[in-house]
Amino acid sequence: AKRVLTGITTSGIPHLGNYVGAIRPAIAASREAGVDAFYFMADYHALIKAGDPRRVAESRQALTATWLAAGLDHEKVTFYRQSDVPEIPELSWILTCVTAKGLLNRAHAYKASVDQNTAIGEDPDAGITAGLYMYPVLMAADILAFDAQLVPVGRDQIQHIEMARDIAQRFNHRYNGDFFVQPEALIEETSAILPGLDGRKMSKSYDNTIPLFEGGSRKLKDSISRIVTDSRGPGEAKDPDSSSLTTIYRSFASDAQYAAFRHELEQGLGWGEAKTQLFARIEAEIGPMRDAYQDLLANPARMEEILQEGARKARALAVPKLAQLREAIGLGKVD
Ligand code: TYM
Repeated sequence: AKRVLTGITTSGIPHLGNYVGAIRPAIAASREAGVDAFYFMADYHALIKAGDPRRVAESRQALTATWLAAGLDHEKVTFYRQSDVPEIPELSWILTCVTAKGLLNRAHAYKASVDQNTAIGEDPDAGITAGLYMYPVLMAADILAFDAQLVPVGRDQIQHIEMARDIAQRFNHRYNGDFFVQPEALIEETSAILPGLDGRKMSKSYDNTIPLFEGGSRKLKDSISRIVTDSRGPGEAKDPDSSSLTTIYRSFASDAQYAAFRHELEQGLGWGEAKTQLFARIEAEIGPMRDAYQDLLANPARMEEILQEGARKARALAVPKLAQLREAIGLGKVD
């Protein structure tokens, strides 16, 4: 069987980028024959950015409900919360000790924070926690603890997967064995970087997201109406690539529908009408899932039960894996 694994940080409300970049391809992969899938809520990762306990908990509930409403089969997929598997942070420390500091210096997220500080004349490390710095090692532990081969992610996560490969290789070399599988990123080309309202990557940190289920169809319509376009009016020829609207449309349409939509814009379709069409496409796909999302949110005990069952399945693999690793690095029990 092929092992597929991915996680989402519980630091916000799931948006269309999470859905097309990770959730949708991950669920499709989990339905293929011979696939053994592991999907989880990365709540330890959430601590790096969010200092608000209620927000982390709310985000976890929203994400759990989102995965299930989007069609995840929790009996087939191992579906869990990162913090319910203590072997993950344990492995994270073990991996920390084989990870080159220089590797972490090159991580995009850390570097971006340093650059920002430098630009405003601050101390380069001002406000940066060791958590942000160590982030890629925790992510490597998520992946390597389960010997995952394929990791469905958006393009912004590729560097982290490459770091996990590097760390796996160093460990295997240091301890002279095939302890870890080298994971590979699985990228959905057309949706790898979904743009947000303003054309930049859709991201919680840019405040340019379109929520997936939260706020209902009214909120979806309202968000879509705020996608930035130029001021060309109905009847004027449009450059389809001048707005992120067209790229978002592409993630919810067939190739033929996408081509027809571009053509209509070139022929003068008004942006308002284009937004109505985009709304209809997205709504046709996610509208039917929204009731299930609301039902799940109203039943936290049911979600907790599913996550506990997932944690049990995940630990059934992680516990023996860690025992094997402890043995290999000299921490094994003497009997
Ligand atoms: P996170 O929570 O930022 O994002 C979750 C997933 O959504 C994808 N994504 C996007 N894809 C396309 N277009 C966008 N605009 C967009 N925005 C987000 C991300 O690429 C990601 O796949 N570090 C990870 C979580 C994580 C993880 C892991 C992932 C922790 N451990 C192990 C895989 C394996 C993160 O913060 O993703």
